[in-house]
Amino acid sequence: MDGASPRIDVWIMRTDRIDSPAHGRLQTLLSETERNDHDRHAKPQDRVLHAAAHALKRHALSARFDVKPSAWSFTMNAYGKPRPSNGPDGADPRFNLTHTPGLVAVAVSNGIDLGLDAETLDPAHATLDTAMAFAHPSELRTLDPASPHFIGDFYRLWTRKEALAKATGLGLSLEVRTLIFADEIDGPWHLEEWDEGPHHRMALIVETKLGSPEIRMHRIEPTALT
Ligand SMILES: CC(C)(COP(=O)(O)OP(=O)(O)OC[C@H]1O[C@@H](n2cnc3c(N)ncnc32)[C@H](O)[C@@H]1OP(=O)(O)O)[C@@H](O)C(=O)NCCC(=O)NCCS
Repeated sequence: MDGASPRIDVWIMRTDRIDSPAHGRLQTLLSETERNDHDRHAKPQDRVLHAAAHALKRHALSARFDVKPSAWSFTMNAYGKPRPSNGPDGADPRFNLTHTPGLVAVAVSNGIDLGLDAETLDPAHATLDTAMAFAHPSELRTLDPASPHFIGDFYRLWTRKEALAKATGLGLSLEVRTLIFADEIDGPWHLEEWDEGPHHRMALIVETKLGSPEIRMHRIEPTALT
């Protein structure tokens, strides 16, 4: 069993080929609580994302820690950030998950706080009005809707801030509009960011108390989950 280490495992799964039988199979991998949460989603596509994300979460945690996928249980902080409430002796399993149309992803660590965000590039959503909800005034001035880079710039900022809000565990309670997000973040955080194919942007923010993170990427098909 690995002790606390700066290693982060990032698991990414495409969801666009999950048909009805595959969706049904993913649901069998969920706990009763997760199935109830699943059933509360009204839209079929949100149910697929929920089942895929939480089945992947169990798979990703069990790939790192010696606990069966079905045996994990979870608790959450005051802002809704979940974390495992069980695990092998001496280990401190942590994770963060994200879902967006077409993709789910989970980052797993041992003893390190982290936040992961994936967004689908959507020109209809990328507007200055929307950016006002999360960008600092000085960041807003760098966003030019007439630029061919606008959508990329918009989602780079969005995913960075969302990942930071998730890493701190504060979620929406973090005043992201007051933060100016340079390429290097002030404080004990490391930023990784990338395009996941042509339609998605992702950002991962990791606490650096154990040194620079070693990031291992795993891309997996839904059929590989057990
Ligand atoms: C809950 C929140 C943390 C992310 O929600 P979201 O947009 O649905 O994003 P994601 O799919 O990336 O993440 C959802 C998952 O984060 C986890 N999560 C929930 N609360 C969290 C918190 N406080 N901190 C970290 N992770 C949290 C959960 O696992 C959740 O999935 P689940 O509900 O299926 O268990 C919250 O910050 C939010 O709603 N943000 C969107 C607000 C926005 O406008 N952002 C603009 C750019 S900053």
